[in-house]
Amino acid sequence: METKILRLNPDHFDPKKLKEAANIIQNGDIVGFPTETVYGLGGSIYSDDAIKKIFQAKGRPMDNPLIVHISSMEMLKDLVLEIPENVQKICEHYWPGPLTILFRKSPIVADSVTAGLPTVAIRMPSHPIAKSFIEVAGVPIAAPSANSSGRPSPTTAEHVYHDLHGKIPYIIDGGKTNFGVESTVIDVHRNPPMILRPGGMNYEDLVSFIPNLQIYEKSISDSELEKHPSTPGLKYTHYSPNAYLILIEFNEMKSSDLSILSSMRHKLEKLHLKYIKMGKKVGIIHTHSGIQLSAQIINHSQTEIYPLGAQLNPDQSNQDVIDNFGQVAQGLFSAMRNLDELGVEIILVEGISEKYEGLAVMNRLRKAASEIIEIKKR
Ligand code: TXA
Ligand code: MG
Repeated sequence: METKILRLNPDHFDPKKLKEAANIIQNGDIVGFPTETVYGLGGSIYSDDAIKKIFQAKGRPMDNPLIVHISSMEMLKDLVLEIPENVQKICEHYWPGPLTILFRKSPIVADSVTAGLPTVAIRMPSHPIAKSFIEVAGVPIAAPSANSSGRPSPTTAEHVYHDLHGKIPYIIDGGKTNFGVESTVIDVHRNPPMILRPGGMNYEDLVSFIPNLQIYEKSISDSELEKHPSTPGLKYTHYSPNAYLILIEFNEMKSSDLSILSSMRHKLEKLHLKYIKMGKKVGIIHTHSGIQLSAQIINHSQTEIYPLGAQLNPDQSNQDVIDNFGQVAQGLFSAMRNLDELGVEIILVEGISEKYEGLAVMNRLRKAASEIIEIKKR
């Protein structure tokens, strides 16, 4: 199968150009398209064929449910049994945007979409192309991220093409996505309401309107939720580069100060040396690019460095440093993919603090990691 690509400028495009992609959706086939978080692989929720094709193209386990994308509150009504008043307010406050909300599903939503769950995950994307695309198609669009299952999510159309060309008929190329990590998934029907997956919408932004919001904590391995997951996606390996990724993190990543950073940096340099001596090609995702790596690392021929824009002020001591969380999130999956392309065997990453987008970044890094090294406070 040939995979056709349509390039559009998200800030300036003619919605008529989306007719061809919309026809594909209406005929029960699937399309890769940009959203503000990551690229999605979309199909009509009313087509069993399309839903099957989504799972097949990605190689996705059938028990991992899909997110349904809508372009209006009208569309929402058909999909759910009820919209409690508090949930209605949350939708109005945060949509369109990178927030996915669980609802009790109506019979219209096929079991194949929700993997048999009584709930359906829904979001209204803010990306202009995604919005228009759903409107022109005229149906809610079920879409997981448009990567091969287990690979880092795609933040460019090239990433989608790399994973899925020959398996899908069409990709809409809207350039790089804004957030770079997937949407935040929340369950606001339960008490207290809970973030099931941190993502593009920050906890800090959500808690201002949903005061008792909890975060479903990261340690999935020993939890009841993992055995009976309410987000089934939690039980699968995710976001992994081919390289062996080592995450160096501090045991209390809530705050970062320079002494923590220098301990992490020390560890990173030791590991770099160890793997270089073993003859490995080493990649570094440089999350604190405001603080230079040592000349020994920078000048090493067997080392590839991928800088992400966290700016640190080296004059600040013992206070919070300003991580540029948004930039780290935006570039994270690209960094993993690029280092794979360069053939690195080991990837070293320093963790960042779990504030703002840092929460989603650390969640993805922990899932991507083959090994996590915790630095203890001295
Ligand atoms: O930003 C995003 O959310 C992107 C774009 C394309 O919208 N989509 C995305 O989809 O990341 P996916 O399939 O890669 O991740 C969806 C997550 C999975 O962890 C899945 O288990 C969870 O949402 N999910 C879907 N339906 C659910 C449900 N009914 N209950 C609990 N979790 C659900
Ligand atoms: Mg995904």
